[in-house]
Amino acid sequence: MGNKGFPLTGLAISLTLILSALHCARGDVSYSIPEEMKHGTVIGNIGKDLGLDVKRLSDRRARIDTEGNNKRYCDVNMDNGDLIVAERIDRETLCGKKASCVIKLEFVLQNPLELHRVNLHIQDINDNAPLFKNDIIKMEIHESAVKGARFSLDEAHDADIGENTVKEYKLQRNEHFILNAETKSGGRKYCELVLDKELDREKEQELQLLLTAVDGGSPQRSGTVVIHVTVLDANDNAPVFSQALYKAILLENSPTGTVVITVSASDADEGLNGDVRYELDHVSDEISNTFLLDTKTGEVKVNGAIDYEEESAYELRISAKDGLGLASYSTLVIDVTDVNDNEPVISVKSLSNPIAENVSPGTEVGIINVQDRDSEKNRQVRCSIQPNVPFKLVTSIKNYYSLVSTAHLDRELVSEYNITITATDEGSPPLSSSKTVHLSVADINDNPPVFEEQSYSAYVTENNKSGSTLCSVTARDPDWRQNGTVIYSLLAAEVNGAPVSSYLSVNGDTGVIHAVRSFDYEHFRSFKVHVMARDNGSPPLSSNVSISVFITDVNDNSPQILYPSPEGNSFMTELVPKAAHGGSLVSKVIAVDADSGQNAWLSYHIIKSTDPGLFTIGLHSGEIRTQRDISESDSMKQNLIVAVKDNGQPSLSATCTMYLLISDNLAEVPELKDISFDENNSKLTFYLIIALVCVSTFFLTFIIIILGVRFCRRRKPRLLFDGAVAIPSAYLPPNYAEVDGTGTLRSAYNYDAYLTTGSRTSDFKFVSSYNDNTLPADQTLRKSPSDFAEAFGESDSSPEVGLELTMLFS
Ligand SMILES: *[C@@H]1O[C@H](CO)[C@@H](O)[C@H](O)[C@H]1NC(C)=O
Ligand SMILES: *[C@@H]1O[C@H](CO)[C@@H](O)[C@H](O)[C@H]1NC(C)=O
Ligand SMILES: *[C@@H]1O[C@H](CO)[C@@H](O)[C@H](O)[C@H]1NC(C)=O
Repeated sequence: MGNKGFPLTGLAISLTLILSALHCARGDVSYSIPEEMKHGTVIGNIGKDLGLDVKRLSDRRARIDTEGNNKRYCDVNMDNGDLIVAERIDRETLCGKKASCVIKLEFVLQNPLELHRVNLHIQDINDNAPLFKNDIIKMEIHESAVKGARFSLDEAHDADIGENTVKEYKLQRNEHFILNAETKSGGRKYCELVLDKELDREKEQELQLLLTAVDGGSPQRSGTVVIHVTVLDANDNAPVFSQALYKAILLENSPTGTVVITVSASDADEGLNGDVRYELDHVSDEISNTFLLDTKTGEVKVNGAIDYEEESAYELRISAKDGLGLASYSTLVIDVTDVNDNEPVISVKSLSNPIAENVSPGTEVGIINVQDRDSEKNRQVRCSIQPNVPFKLVTSIKNYYSLVSTAHLDRELVSEYNITITATDEGSPPLSSSKTVHLSVADINDNPPVFEEQSYSAYVTENNKSGSTLCSVTARDPDWRQNGTVIYSLLAAEVNGAPVSSYLSVNGDTGVIHAVRSFDYEHFRSFKVHVMARDNGSPPLSSNVSISVFITDVNDNSPQILYPSPEGNSFMTELVPKAAHGGSLVSKVIAVDADSGQNAWLSYHIIKSTDPGLFTIGLHSGEIRTQRDISESDSMKQNLIVAVKDNGQPSLSATCTMYLLISDNLAEVPELKDISFDENNSKLTFYLIIALVCVSTFFLTFIIIILGVRFCRRRKPRLLFDGAVAIPSAYLPPNYAEVDGTGTLRSAYNYDAYLTTGSRTSDFKFVSSYNDNTLPADQTLRKSPSDFAEAFGESDSSPEVGLELTMLFS
């Protein structure tokens, strides 16, 4: 390099020499050489330049001294007078940054001593490269630094001067920074990094840039430094949720603490800037009471009751915030899944209660509504009622059911129903509920009172007190209250021509039947009445029952002796033939008893007689017969006192006297007149006349009765045969009242009256039956034949007293 630059240096030296020659007459010389010339490089020929004799230089001991310095940069070649570089000359060491660098040398000669000043101008060469203070520049730049931000850089130093110092900086191409170089006053160049594109720590945490400083020398030298940029975090990243929308499904009734979902957000920042906290954002109190969000982990937990029926879905806004408050948001949608936790609810919308018992089947009784708060299958409800009631459920509109009767109701059988409605949903497991509807059946007056017995019989002894109780009837009516309240009354009718109310009365409330008057068995023996039982409904229902009243006999009539006349005297004397054999019928005592049965069963006794051994009397027939043949010794006149007793308890009796005359001819009996007239002769004829009249009247009456009976028999012959005609061949005991199983009188009650004339050969019995109606004393002959017929026709049902008279004529 030294060689190449030499011509130019030579020119400069020449110029300097010229100038020096002009200024320094004393012979100062100046040379200019570049620094760092090689040892021995010729700077100039000082001998010549000073006009010295080169050959004498060594003689004169020429030498170079450096001012104030022991360093000898140059030497003089003694042979030719060249000034040569003796030591390395480093301008930078000698002069630093001074613009001109001159080494002052003294050229000293002896013999004679000569001193020449030599100025050696050292010219700079570009031997120093720009140099940075450190190999590496460490910088920390916040990522938040904005575009245009400047960051000053260390300068590079170049020991050279002038052109050879730092001329410019170059920055390795990069995407974030550009370089801004400026020249300070004094010409120093410095540079700054300018942020051209913002940094992102999250992309690049550090950058390496190569900065090169170049000088202006030739050849150019350069120095580089590495700029290490650490990007400092700024909270420039908000947390980012992993999903913009979270969806979770939650079973209803999930217990507290159930984890619903875990949300997560990440923050690219670091440290505090990347520390994410989760929060529920703007949620209602309800939601914040229901869910709990763990601020650290992002876990969403159940914290309250989850009820699908209240809320089937929740939407929560969740925020994630980093330490310095950058936030982002996400939505969490929680769909609640229904659980079959609501039982169906049955409500009775309407109910006809009570329901009348006469409603026809198919009547709608009530409307029932069923609701289930669950959803889907869990709200599908089936409804049923228990099978043993005459009702069913009919689906009408959705969720509505009609309760409909299926059969006829009968309050008297079932007066109320407890209808249990059961509703079951179709969830799994299914839930069910039930409700009992109480339905009462209202009464309709549909049952008539019914008597406990089909008919009643009452027995009452005659001569009862009026007002005495005969019997009581009871009818039952199962209907309700007044519809079942029974009132008894007598059905209006006539008994023996008198209203029934004059015989009986019935207690309307109790059904007890009282006699209104005293009954006489001998007057009538039975009658029939109807009692009606009526309820109090509207309209009322009724039924009736028959009551047969039987009057029982009391022995209140003593036997009546018809023959012989009770007032008997010898006028009524019977003739007994003298030739009568033992056992022949002599006479007969005829007696009647108005009573019946035992009370009318008569027995005959001889209680006193003239000759006790001669006559005997039939105990029940009253026939007086001879006990033995009549003998001549027997007294002509025989008197018997006969007692007639009935069989009642106590028995009643009557007595009579029978006069017997043993004779074949009345005329033969002189004593008879004595007997007859000795007491009251004048009266005898009178009595005879009366007796005759009586007999004729009696006979006449019977003729009339016979005619009447005949007449009736022609019309209704049956009755007479049935009830009355009886011709006993023997002397019958009186009939007894016979009551058959049905309580009705089977045959007529008869009074039997026997009249005898004493004939043993020709007796006939005349039978007459008459109704009590027909023969009251004042009515006897006023009845027309048809009345008789009616009276007999009613003989089954109306009280009847039959009187049968048997007359024996001899
Ligand atoms: C209906 O229920 C009521 C009350 O539970 C009860 O008193 C009544 O006896 C029940 N009736 C029937 C017919 O079961
Ligand atoms: C009696 O029956 C009638 C209908 O026959 C009815 O209207 C009434 O309510 C019933 N009375 C009672 C007390 O049940
Ligand atoms: C009494 O009842 C019978 C049958 O039960 C009926 O034929 C008759 O008409 C009723 N009599 C009265 C007066 O109601």
